[in-house]
Amino acid sequence: MQNQLKTIESEALGELKALGDLQQLEAWRIKYLGKKSPLYQILRSLGSLPEEERRSAGAAANQIRDRLTALLSERQEALKAQAVSRPQEGLDVTLPGRPAPLGRLHPTTQTIREICHIFSNLGFQVVEGPEVEWDYYNFEALNIPRDHPARDMWATFWLDILDEKEQRKMLLRTHTSPMQIRIMEKTRPPIRVVVPGKVFRYEATDATHESMFYQIEGLAIDRNITMADLKGALYYFARRLFGPQRKVRFRCDYFPFVEPGVEMAIDCFACNGEGCRICGSSGWIEILGAGMVHPEVLRKVNYDPAEYTGFAFGLGVERIPMLRYGIEDIRLFYNNDLRFLKQF
Ligand code: DAH
Repeated sequence: MQNQLKTIESEALGELKALGDLQQLEAWRIKYLGKKSPLYQILRSLGSLPEEERRSAGAAANQIRDRLTALLSERQEALKAQAVSRPQEGLDVTLPGRPAPLGRLHPTTQTIREICHIFSNLGFQVVEGPEVEWDYYNFEALNIPRDHPARDMWATFWLDILDEKEQRKMLLRTHTSPMQIRIMEKTRPPIRVVVPGKVFRYEATDATHESMFYQIEGLAIDRNITMADLKGALYYFARRLFGPQRKVRFRCDYFPFVEPGVEMAIDCFACNGEGCRICGSSGWIEILGAGMVHPEVLRKVNYDPAEYTGFAFGLGVERIPMLRYGIEDIRLFYNNDLRFLKQF
């Protein structure tokens, strides 16, 4: 019996040394410590042995079982730790990593940055303002009083917010022009700013109309600013954006907050003014509205129109990439379809 136990022990120890993973260790446990193991059989049969032999064999067998059990758990811990720290079988660490997908700027963002950069070269600062606005800034201070027919130029999203005391109404700004007032209220001339931002129109959407789109407003106020400054700045801008051969055309237009008001067009960059699909065969493409700031607007912010003059302009941002890349539907810009957005 003692010999048998010795053999079991030395075999078990030998095999334990040689095994290399948890699966083999489990097989080893079943073989040497399981219900069908010789050691277990011996422990079970101890009862039928004579008193003397039972004691010595029992002590020896229990000792071996305890030793093997201790070694088992020791080995289990070691193998577990190893499995964690060792890279998975079949992982080739020399392979190049998966490339991180490269993001890109929205075409509207790209256009805003490009335009603001051009004006910053002329000394304009870039500022932003609120999208939810008071009637006062969006209309009244811009020389568009309540019930003035010019309000029809901007289909407006009115909000349910009303300042009871002053009877002021809120809206989603229909253009970036209210920022002209906010800036002039806060600062004294000279002023040169451009204001990019979202504007909202309560209109049915189609290929050329969205209820939300972007504009960039421009404002320059100082002593002795004339129409020549307006034309010079916008001519410079048009050539930076559309190429150095571009011609510009100014024609009269009406906006309540400027006098005179103009609309600026460039000769078509696609056909050089010959007339094509992009310019609607006219040879000219309208780019923006502008004008000399109306004296009434200057008075609203307590500027003396006899001392200060200035020019302002406003342009629709999406129209620029639409013209450049031949995009025929403005709704594509904000559908968030990556197949569209990835092209820019
Ligand atoms: N705010 C005008 C619009 O949304 C565009 C505009 C025209 C802005 C003339 C100006 C301007 O600053 O001088 O239709």
